[in-house]
Amino acid sequence: MGDILQQGRGLADQLIAFRRDLHQFPELSFQEARTAGKVADELARLGLAFHRNVGGHGIVADLPGGKPGPTIALRADMDALPITEQSDLEFASRNPGVMHACGHDAHTAILLGAAILLRAKQNELAGTVRFLFQSAEEINAGADAMIEAGALEGVAEIYGLHNLPTLAAGKAATRKGAMMGSVGRIEITVEGRGGHGAIPEQSIDPVVAASAIVMALQTAVSRELSPFEPAVVTIGSIKAGEANNVIPETATMTGTVRAFSDLVHVRLPEIIERIAVHTAQAYRCRAVLKYTSQVPVLVNDSRCNDFVHETIQSQLGDSQCLTAEPTLAGEDFAKYLQRIPGCFFWLGSGPTQGAEQAYGLHHPQYRLNEQCIPLGASLLAAIAAKRLTPES
Ligand code: NI
Repeated sequence: MGDILQQGRGLADQLIAFRRDLHQFPELSFQEARTAGKVADELARLGLAFHRNVGGHGIVADLPGGKPGPTIALRADMDALPITEQSDLEFASRNPGVMHACGHDAHTAILLGAAILLRAKQNELAGTVRFLFQSAEEINAGADAMIEAGALEGVAEIYGLHNLPTLAAGKAATRKGAMMGSVGRIEITVEGRGGHGAIPEQSIDPVVAASAIVMALQTAVSRELSPFEPAVVTIGSIKAGEANNVIPETATMTGTVRAFSDLVHVRLPEIIERIAVHTAQAYRCRAVLKYTSQVPVLVNDSRCNDFVHETIQSQLGDSQCLTAEPTLAGEDFAKYLQRIPGCFFWLGSGPTQGAEQAYGLHHPQYRLNEQCIPLGASLLAAIAAKRLTPES
């Protein structure tokens, strides 16, 4: 198996060209028709059996090994973001307002590369590798849709990766247990009574109430949760009124809520609702909270994490696989891990020379070190191949 890195390197040109093509034609969540078509063409060329339109434009392909054994899933996401690309790359986005700013184009190329590498050792595998090309990760909906369509049926374990531009290409990082945060969406509507901006006593001002709610919400984390339980409540948008001299009828706010334990994730909606409703009352307004739980905490199975860590170390060397820092960014891979054991890991995609500045994920100037593409393909292939190697 030591040669899998080298075999991956042999695919570099092909996989990078594939990724650059996807990069030029990024597609938003649940609109990945062209991307899925490209993947399907390549899988057909490989002679793999697959299903299309699974949970949106998702593709599920099975590679049965030469001997019986468990089914191990590998997953990539395919969607892009509503961002106008500001990179000066020659293969920059040609779809105005849409950009692969999270590197899902690379993830798709990486999983395709893993399929090519594993196809070459199909007969040696004791079990089946299932490749999941998923829609709509960015809106936290694709994993649910895949699961509902049965993509996890018969799957024993699942593995996946995300590129990380703040980690140098050539390195990877894993974390046992909780690694990424839960995600909840909040929408607060504050109702008052509109009127003339110069005669406030005849109105009930929802703008003042909304402002007070934003300030009061800062105590949800600082005063109600243990300092040892990380959580975030961010109000990201406030909309009220049109004219400078009119008190509007309503104010609406949206925000995001993150936590690092499911217990906190479950508690936060009650806290936010209580603060919003009662603060609004203090200003004679009425507040209504709409809370949507989007993604649970991403928790890596301890045994699967050890296995991934050891596999990466054996491929790249001990010093190249780090312990990942926790983050409250969310990832809908957590939905798979809620159902079956597995491990999600970071693949370094940043500059290998320290001087160069790396733009973060979701930045209009985000760019990825393409060296990570063949490497990621080799790592995913090595994980599946090792997992499906009978104990000698
Ligand atoms: Ni992403």
